[in-house]
Amino acid sequence: MKIAVIGGGGREHAILRALKKNRSVETVYAIPGNGGMAEEAVCVPEYRASDVEGIVRFCRERAVNYVVVAPDDPLVLGMVDALEEAGIPAFGPRKDAAILEGSKVFSKNLMKKYGIPTAAYEAFTELDAALRYASHCPIPAVIKADGLALGKGVIIAMTRSEAVEGVRTIMAEKKFGHSGDRIVIEEYLEGPEVSVLSFTDGTELVPMVSSMDHKRALDGDQGLNTGGMGTVAPNPFYTEEVAKECMERIFLPTVRAMNAEGRSFRGCLYFGLMLTKDGPKVIEYNCRFGDPETQVVLPLLDSDLLTILRACTEGRLAGTEIRWKSESACCIVAASGGYPQAYRSGYEISGLSGCENVYIAGAERKDGKLLTSGGRVLGVVRTAETLERAIKLAYEDMERIHFTDMHYRRDIGQRALRAGRGE
Ligand code: AMP
Ligand code: GLY
Repeated sequence: MKIAVIGGGGREHAILRALKKNRSVETVYAIPGNGGMAEEAVCVPEYRASDVEGIVRFCRERAVNYVVVAPDDPLVLGMVDALEEAGIPAFGPRKDAAILEGSKVFSKNLMKKYGIPTAAYEAFTELDAALRYASHCPIPAVIKADGLALGKGVIIAMTRSEAVEGVRTIMAEKKFGHSGDRIVIEEYLEGPEVSVLSFTDGTELVPMVSSMDHKRALDGDQGLNTGGMGTVAPNPFYTEEVAKECMERIFLPTVRAMNAEGRSFRGCLYFGLMLTKDGPKVIEYNCRFGDPETQVVLPLLDSDLLTILRACTEGRLAGTEIRWKSESACCIVAASGGYPQAYRSGYEISGLSGCENVYIAGAERKDGKLLTSGGRVLGVVRTAETLERAIKLAYEDMERIHFTDMHYRRDIGQRALRAGRGE
């Protein structure tokens, strides 16, 4: 089989490495991929991940048998629909279902309509009305741009003036472009966060192992929000009891709600949850695998990923075996110094050969060398019988790696360890 994985980050590297375990896979195209994957996949840097037309044409010309669309923007743009129209089966929701991530107003209205627990909110299309509301709404408040904003379209306003300023930033100054044409202002929730990715074929839903992201740039959850500086799995806050409640009150109701709206969701449905004192609530839906959650979840999968993905696409998830290793995993992300703000790249990466499992997120190959080319450069992943050991092994591997101005957090997994000890 010839497979294409759309995207070019650490998540895509983890997906393609897991897909390659299936013996029927002869060729994997990574579109665009990155230099750090070049030994494992045929990278196709000519196309951006969101180039729907170009990628469909490429897949048709190369007679690709199956496509995994990993990032949010091509899904929201309808890449799966376009591939299917061209007769190429693809993993991921169609455009009408990807709106679950593509529009916060849509997802909040859906949750309200179907009684799925989430933060109370108001949605606005007019600047004046939003400003009026921000001047008297409960504080803290959370202001969210409606559309995709690279995970950055969220402002947590701890004071009244931050709330008003936040509305202006998103709606008037258009900091996130047209994503901010509409906004949601919602109640501030507190509690541990859990990421749960799930496989769904539109009827069945099978949650994957839970995980915990570390979004801030610096130790102790300080510094700016990033795309994610590390993850651990499973998440100790996500007990069996919580899992059961989530399945009954959130996961299955979401699948049913999307069906009732005529927007059946097939693919990876990602639940960003907050475990509040009033129970688990949805912070966000994503219509795809999380990054860097995927990097800790897939190494714990003890079944064949390609078989599961195709079962989702073909509506056969019910009879498909999905087993997990009873181990823990830790991913530490190494970023370019300065990320998520300005950073330099082009530095040589060394020490990778001594590590067990590294997923490359931002690198290019030049004159036989691997050079940094992005904010998040790579993720080091280890699995072990205990979380403590997985963390230790991952940090030992990270010590072997070097590039100029390399930055990584030293405390990935520490909160999970404390929770695991009941502290
Ligand atoms: P999102 O892009 O919706 O995942 O939001 C990014 C981050 O903002 C989340 O991971 C949370 O840490 C935080 N956040 C989002 N919504 C809320 C909320 N209603 N209350 C508290 N924190 C939130
Ligand atoms: N790690 C969060 C996300 O993928 O959106």
